[in-house]
Amino acid sequence: MYYLGLIILIIFLVWIFIIFVVLRIIRKFYKFPIPAFFTRLIDNPIRRKLIQKPKTVAERLDLSPGMKVLEIGPGKGSYTKIIAKKILPEGVVYAIDIQDYIIKNLKEEIEKEKISNIIPLIDNAYNLSFEENSIDRILAIACLPEIPEPVKALKEFRRVLKDDGIISLSELFPDPDYPTRKKEKKWAKDAGLKFKEEFGNWFVYQLNFGKK
Ligand SMILES: C[S@@+](CC[C@H](N)C(=O)[O-])C[C@H]1O[C@@H](n2cnc3c(N)ncnc32)[C@H](O)[C@@H]1O
Repeated sequence: MYYLGLIILIIFLVWIFIIFVVLRIIRKFYKFPIPAFFTRLIDNPIRRKLIQKPKTVAERLDLSPGMKVLEIGPGKGSYTKIIAKKILPEGVVYAIDIQDYIIKNLKEEIEKEKISNIIPLIDNAYNLSFEENSIDRILAIACLPEIPEPVKALKEFRRVLKDDGIISLSELFPDPDYPTRKKEKKWAKDAGLKFKEEFGNWFVYQLNFGKK
């Protein structure tokens, strides 16, 4: 009985590994935005409580009341909401995504919870509808490697970032698009950003960059 359980577990893990490798190969050649149902799947209690806690991610942003924050690809908004709380009373989080239904769902969610300082918008990371030097913090969680031209997107983040602002990128390993820290630092360097701080470990990390 014990051996049967072990064999089933091994077969299950091998299948997970095969699916991960196949997805990684497909996404290497064919990038497309993750469907909304998948963003709901990855924003689960295990991730939020144990792996990539919204409170921890927000603490690493050095937030203060009144700031303007831009989140790219907010998913269900678990990270967006905690950031919005920390910048009250006058701070605002602009949560942007290219997918209409992500923005629609987030709008419904914040209306239900009566949160007034999150502004969900359809916008594109390559061509943001924000003024130069206007944003204090930019956050992208499990999002940048999904964008086919990450350096082009980072250059656009740099454009809208204030001179003393922070761009924070966070990734986690089971993501089929997961890049190593070295690769993400290289993208940032190529976009003219300066590395500031890093947190976490190989599996889940967060990198902070600035303009100077
Ligand atoms: C994997 S989801 C991130 C979910 C969420 N941040 C989380 O960690 O739970 C990545 C999101 O980035 C969005 N995205 C992809 N390319 C984009 C672009 N060029 N501009 C804006 N958003 C983009 C996708 O539509 C998708 O909703």
